Amino acid sequence: MTALTLSTAGAATLRADAVVVGVAKGAKGPVVAPGAEAVDTAFDGTLATVLDTLGASGAEGEAIKLPSPAGLKAPVVLAVGLGAAPKDGVYGAEALRRAAGTAARALTGAKKAAFALPIASPADAEAIAEGALLGAYAFTAYQGGDGKGGGKTPLAEVALLGAKPRDKAYKAAAERALVLAEEINRSRDLINTPPNDLTPEAFAAVASAAGKEVGVKVQILDEKALVKGGFGGILGVGQGSVNPPRLVKLVYTHSKDAKHLALVGKGITYDSGGISLKPAGHNETMKCDMSGAAAVFAAVVAAARLGLPVNVTGWLALAENMPSGSATRPGDVLRMYSGKTVEVLNTDAEGRLVLADALWKASEENPDAIVDVATLTGAMVLALGNRTFGVMANDDDFRTAVHETAAEVGEQSWPMPLPAELRKGMDSPTADIANMGERMGGGLVAGLFLQEFVGEGITWAHLDIAGPAFHEGAPYGYTPKGGTGSSVRTLVRLAEKLGEGDLG
Ligand code: BES
Ligand code: MN
Ligand code: ZN
Repeated sequence: MTALTLSTAGAATLRADAVVVGVAKGAKGPVVAPGAEAVDTAFDGTLATVLDTLGASGAEGEAIKLPSPAGLKAPVVLAVGLGAAPKDGVYGAEALRRAAGTAARALTGAKKAAFALPIASPADAEAIAEGALLGAYAFTAYQGGDGKGGGKTPLAEVALLGAKPRDKAYKAAAERALVLAEEINRSRDLINTPPNDLTPEAFAAVASAAGKEVGVKVQILDEKALVKGGFGGILGVGQGSVNPPRLVKLVYTHSKDAKHLALVGKGITYDSGGISLKPAGHNETMKCDMSGAAAVFAAVVAAARLGLPVNVTGWLALAENMPSGSATRPGDVLRMYSGKTVEVLNTDAEGRLVLADALWKASEENPDAIVDVATLTGAMVLALGNRTFGVMANDDDFRTAVHETAAEVGEQSWPMPLPAELRKGMDSPTADIANMGERMGGGLVAGLFLQEFVGEGITWAHLDIAGPAFHEGAPYGYTPKGGTGSSVRTLVRLAEKLGEGDLG
């Protein structure tokens, strides 16, 4: 991955391929943001005018390259838009993160770039570093024969200017940005890996290897252990595939007395819909259906690497949903790990089945809170679009806390209800519950289903990331095409806050 360095050098004197400066949208045209003073001086104070003449406005997403005037070591100046100039002069973390991401993408192929964006605090440095390292991401493992992407090498080094390298708070901010970006990028790799290679078994092996590296205990239940344990939901979903399911447990222990957060991820390595087969046009991106498990995996590893003062257990419910002679049929009844029976009316509503088993298993340890993450419903995408995940919970304060935590780290989410009247749509004449209910409010129906598999008295939230998990449009800010790593930053910050007693 791209390297990160903190430098005390000035923007004019650091040897680099390019120096990145910020431009904001002012009332009377573009304004050069703090951090770029030395660069502006090299332009005799005309940088804003030059940018204005070139058509730059300072809008988010803008990236304009200029040849450097005499007096700058870097041969190129890259001006990136920061959006509206803040009235109080304080740039928001997400504006910085996105601008840094845009800059890193614009510098694909470059070796070293000096980032001279406005930094007023360690949090700003963290946002810029995070945005740059996330923006520089590229998934090239399957390109160019050598797996090196046929020439598209990401920006190799981000040198952060203005982030005091000898100051503890800045060092910690940089370390945090690096760990988060590395783990988010690792989750993106998993999501982007084609489903013929990333089977449940392969995913479990990746988790196992990473766990060893960072001191996270990893336990894998294979298909035999799942049968023995009575995990009817995970087995029912996985039984149509030649690639058998797995339940992976990841344990990061900080200390005996620390708070305990359990994270549960939907890990459908490919969702064909099963016998209720998805039509063409709906299955091309369904390798992304393990994004919840990838996020949980990344969050546990990041928590361990950062030594957060909290105990975190991650549960990855891994299965491949395929149609075959051995697949679950619409009409079959599964006996779940909790003992409840489920009539499977639609084999494409498989995520809730694997999650139900993992949620019940996670509940047995009586954690202080459970958060599950899943690309669960198309209905949530219809409701909230492609960039916002839905948050449901059995506790209004916890739902608010999750939503606010997401906003803090620059992830878009929205609180959604669990209306009790939607439960009866899942009444089954044959079993305790059906895996489908009313079509209207389908995302909430799925949430209500999951709620039935959360242990009595345990605080629980459900994140439906079906919209933001996989980005099909053109890259923007620090968001690439493909797997995004949605919700990792929220989970890590939530774990930290729970551990520090900041969740109320
Ligand atoms: N994995 C899908 C949900 C999904 C849709 C994720 C679009 C990402 C993008 C899920 O398993 C599914 O198929 N859900 C069904 C449920 C329905 C059959 C009750 C859906 O949303 O249509
Ligand atoms: Mn499905
Ligand atoms: Zn699915």
